[in-house]
Parts: sequence; C-alpha cells; structure tokens
Amino acid sequence: MSHNLLKGKRGIIFGALNDQSIAWKVAEKAHAEGASFVLSNVPVAMRLGAINELSEKCNAPIIPADATSTEDLKNLYTQSMEQLGGKIDFVLHSIGMSPNVRKGKGYTDLNYDWYQKTLDISGGSLHKTLQVAMEMDALNEWASVVALSYIAAQRIYPDYGDMADAKSLLESIARGFGYHYGFKKKVRVNTISQSPTPTTAGTGVSGFDKFLAFAESLSPLGNADANACADYCVMMFSDYTKYVTMQNLYHDGGYSATGVTAEVMDKF
Ligand SMILES: NC(=O)c1ccc[n+]([C@@H]2O[C@H](COP(=O)([O-])OP(=O)(O)OC[C@H]3O[C@@H](n4cnc5c(N)ncnc54)[C@H](O)[C@@H]3O)[C@@H](O)[C@H]2O)c1
Repeated sequence: MSHNLLKGKRGIIFGALNDQSIAWKVAEKAHAEGASFVLSNVPVAMRLGAINELSEKCNAPIIPADATSTEDLKNLYTQSMEQLGGKIDFVLHSIGMSPNVRKGKGYTDLNYDWYQKTLDISGGSLHKTLQVAMEMDALNEWASVVALSYIAAQRIYPDYGDMADAKSLLESIARGFGYHYGFKKKVRVNTISQSPTPTTAGTGVSGFDKFLAFAESLSPLGNADANACADYCVMMFSDYTKYVTMQNLYHDGGYSATGVTAEVMDKF
C-alpha cells in the first residue's frame, strides 16, 4: 500500500541497527513511498552487519557517522548530497543510548561522565545534526526533520534514568531549532513521542516487558508498534504536514491523554 508520498525526496535516516529498529521500518516505508536516502549509524553498528541487508533492499548507500561528531556530520552531508544528487528533504534522528541505563546506574547514582554521553548522544546530537546542516545549507526549503522521543520527558518513569533528561533536551532542541530554521528556510523540526516498542534500545530498560503490558492496558488503541511509527514518520516527511513544526507529537494509542482505564481499575 504505497502512495508515492515521498517521490523525488532525498533523505538521511540515522539509527537502523537491526530489523527491530524503528529506523529500519522507516527506511522500508520511505523506500516504498519513492524516497531515495542514505543510511547512517556509528561504525560499531555497521560491524554487526545487518544494515547491509537493508541497504541492498532499499538501494540506499551507507555512510557511517557518530552523530556527536560535527566532523562526521559534515562528511555525512557532503557525501549524501553527492550520492543522492542534491540537497536533503528529510532527516530521521532515531538515536538513543545511555551508558548509565545500560550499566544499571539509577537516577540518583549517576556516573557524570556517562551522563554527559547520554545527553550528547541522545539529545545534543540533534542540535549538531541541525547546526551542521544549517552551516552547510544542506537542507531544502520545507525539509522535515523528525526525532524520536518518549513521554518520560514529561512524566517520571523511574527506570528510564537519565534518558528522561536527554529526551527533555531533545524536545527542547526541536522547538528551538524549529524556530530558527523555520524563519531561515521553512525547515520544520518535530519530535514523535512513541509508545514503548520492543527494540534493542527499548528492551535495554529494566522491566521492559511489564512496562509494555502496562502501557498497553492504559492505551485505548493499544501500543503503537514500530511499523505504525514508521507510517507516521513518512507522513511527517511528506508535503501533507508542511505547517507542522516545533511540536512533540504523541504516537501512543491515546496513552498520554488517559488517566486510568477499566482494565487497570479491575486490577485493584
Ligand atoms: N523502543 C522504545 O520503546 C522507544 C520508545 C520511544 C522512543 N524511542 C526512541 O526511538 C529511537 C530509536 O530507538 P529504537 O527503539 O529503534 O532502538 P535501536 O537500538 O534499534 O536504535 C538506537 C540507535 O541509536 C544508534 N546510536 C547510538 N549511538 C549513536 C551515535 N553516537 N551516533 C549515531 N547513532 C547512534 C544505535 O546504533 C542504534 O542504531 C531512540 O531515540 C529511542 O530512544 C524508543
């Protein structure tokens, strides 16, 4: 079921690690909708090899970049424009990692060097991605940049640790850069706040399975899965959402607006 929504558009998709990744599904859907794009990830993710399969399937070149390195980002934009044949129309920032969460360091026992890494990788890298693009004038007018967020930016989820701070930063950067890039070049910047989703990053949070079930029972439509998230991303890259910018868009089956459900009440 494709509609050529992205026909003629050029993009950069960060964060496809394996076929569970949200970015992987976005790449598949963007390809089906007629886009051409580059796949990017850190070199260590390349070594796992799965991304080569996606690259072949989508006819998409792979250009490694650590999204915290402005040098890598400059090289990524230069090569992407060269290989795709012009400026970029859409960017997916699907990047998240916390050494503290990964190593079981809770919110009141943070290693501060790791905390800096969490903020830089999961939040600040969006700023770098946008600032380098602006400096290089690498994005076309009306380009759309989407980063993936989580509701822990607004509410406390104790096991999400310092990632919550990173998501708050991420959403703030989307507003800040959305303002400046909007005036400068009509570029739109948004975050999509996604349901818990069983991926490598998602399942790295302790108690993830229970958490998934809890969110499911608190969402009138149920949890949104990675494929549905990819559909939403494609819509945000398309010309059908040209005046949506600086927003945090919940994609969660109604979870964020629900106080309690009959199913949850029955458990008490
Ligand atoms: N899975 C969930 O429950 C969920 C819910 C809401 C939001 N999100 C967000 O969705 C995004 C994608 O995560 P996912 O669930 O698909 O998991 P994933 O583990 O498949 O993707 C995370 C990606 O970030 C990449 N990455 C890490 N450090 C990087 C760096 N320095 N530079 C470039 N890339 C780097 C990893 O290699 C990986 O490909 C993340 O921002 C995550 O926080 C996930």
